[in-house]
Amino acid sequence: MKGVILAGGLGTRLLPMTKVTNKHLLPVYDKPMIFYPIQSLVNAGIKDIMLVTGGNSAGDFLQLLGNGREFGLKELHYTYQEGGDAGIADALDLAEDFADGGKIVVMLGDNIIERNICRAVADFFTQKEGAKVMLKEVPDPRRFGVAEIKDNRIFAVEEKPQNPKTNYAVIGIYMYDAEVFEIIKTLKPSNRGELEITDVNNAYIQRGAMTYEILEGWWTDAGTVESLYRATQLVAQNGANRLE
Ligand code: DAU
Repeated sequence: MKGVILAGGLGTRLLPMTKVTNKHLLPVYDKPMIFYPIQSLVNAGIKDIMLVTGGNSAGDFLQLLGNGREFGLKELHYTYQEGGDAGIADALDLAEDFADGGKIVVMLGDNIIERNICRAVADFFTQKEGAKVMLKEVPDPRRFGVAEIKDNRIFAVEEKPQNPKTNYAVIGIYMYDAEVFEIIKTLKPSNRGELEITDVNNAYIQRGAMTYEILEGWWTDAGTVESLYRATQLVAQNGANRLE
């Protein structure tokens, strides 16, 4: 399966740190943020990766990552999201040709995990069609997409709800079949003017084609000052992307 890492957006929640550079180039403990999701995909056996970038300093990714040799990759693919902040699903849409009709694993460039997604990726490899999301119980679900679960099935995802129905955040690791690009073409911008990945996930749920897995080990995003600080502490204390 191929992998797509989304590293566009304007990173406005991290201003002024993101005034002249891209959020995903900022340090998380001893490495630039973007290193972590690349390593997560590589650890899960995904070696064919496209990076979607945008906003400030897009050229710096090339200089930093080159062909991805540091990660054992033969080459890295790049594309550019014009306009900067049209949403996660808008950024993903740019990977349609790269996906070439196959299944993909998508990871947000500001998500960091303690362990790995090997089992979930292997399970999705054998899943005939549809999508899979990864969930994690969090103390502050209002900040995330939140899954409603009953009888081991997800029946809805709500984006940043005022009154979350569960504590299960839908983390920024998504697995999709090629239908995802047809779904994205039907989306309308949300109240915040973005094509939402939560709308994509709800479309799969309505088709009865969504599975989920609970992530083991800690998970964090790093898109706010508090979560970036927390990410640095977690990596410093425990390391990230452990294989076992
Ligand atoms: O971290 C998990 C959460 O990520 C999910 O629980 C939410 O459902 C999902 O909407 C998302 O929420 P955020 O509001 O935190 O997403 P954010 O705008 O910070 O974007 C996350 C990453 O997606 C960002 O690091 C880069 C990429 N992105 C985002 C936008 C808006 C793009 O590549 N292009 C974009 O236009």
